[in-house]
Amino acid sequence: MILVTGATGNLGKATINSLLDKGIAPSDITALVRDETKAADLISKGVQVKLGDYQDVESLKNAFQGVDKLLLISSSADIAYRFGQHKNAIDAAKETGVSHLIYTGFAMNDLHQSTMGEDVQYHAYTADYVKQAAIPYTVMNNTLYADLIPFLIGKDALDEGVSIPAGAGKTPFLPLADMAEALAVVLTTPGHDNKEYVLAAETAFSFAEIAAMLSDSTGKTIAYHQPAGSLYIAQLIEAGLSADDAAYIARYAKAIAYGEFDTGKSDAKHLLGRSPVRLDDFLRNLYGE
Ligand SMILES: NC(=O)c1ccc[n+]([C@@H]2O[C@H](COP(=O)([O-])OP(=O)(O)OC[C@H]3O[C@@H](n4cnc5c(N)ncnc54)[C@H](OP(=O)(O)O)[C@@H]3O)[C@@H](O)[C@H]2O)c1
Repeated sequence: MILVTGATGNLGKATINSLLDKGIAPSDITALVRDETKAADLISKGVQVKLGDYQDVESLKNAFQGVDKLLLISSSADIAYRFGQHKNAIDAAKETGVSHLIYTGFAMNDLHQSTMGEDVQYHAYTADYVKQAAIPYTVMNNTLYADLIPFLIGKDALDEGVSIPAGAGKTPFLPLADMAEALAVVLTTPGHDNKEYVLAAETAFSFAEIAAMLSDSTGKTIAYHQPAGSLYIAQLIEAGLSADDAAYIARYAKAIAYGEFDTGKSDAKHLLGRSPVRLDDFLRNLYGE
């Protein structure tokens, strides 16, 4: 039995769909959810659904009974709670005899020394905790989703230009669908015990290069603007984010500017057995040009 946590979220749902595409029987997949009403589509496909909350160890122990492979998708709770929640899930996996634990971490040059501080350090603490749990593990260090780009660069980028204070920093953005497929590969093939992979594109691009890709695909000249941090935060708030979330995203922009996501490592092609979707193709498809 494979259990996927965060199954009502983007990555969990896409991973379950990828497992189904690979021919895994829905009865062999369990989705861990907090709210069954959010899992109607999974239930309609025959996927098993169990209730569990990372805050509630007993609910996790109940849900993990009989599970062989567990994909622990990192929590989206307030940052301060995330490591504790992940510990609860790892402890429950150990107690219930899960035979392979896969954790979705984060791919930066140095999570401990990042300018993002505690925003990302919990991924390092979790990866360390996974490794000492005495369960065969795989840590999947994910880069930033390519799907985040429209949100990072401003909603009117095709008319007003790419707007983010990210300097010349390069990021190996990878589409979420490719990350989900790579996770499904690790869940369904042997040879991944006690390994750490980086799910990222082979080539990293700056936002100047992303603006050039958008220019090529639209035939318009799309500039790259770098607003001051406070103006970028105002742009994100205007797009609907809370002040806290906007400040959080601005810290990502700073880390990108410092090249913190440009690790030079990528296991995506090896895991997928094909090249990941190219960023220019992804953007052309996304922006429908
Ligand atoms: N690499 C990137 O670019 C990137 C971008 C964004 C996020 N992330 C990280 O990657 C994770 C997956 O991304 P995503 O886009 O799939 O996020 P998402 O759509 O926000 O999904 C998060 C999932 O975690 C579940 N969850 C939150 N708190 C929980 C709890 N206390 N107990 C059990 N489940 C809980 C949510 O359940 P509910 O539906 O009940 O809320 C949801 O299913 C995120 O949680 C975040 O840590 C990475």
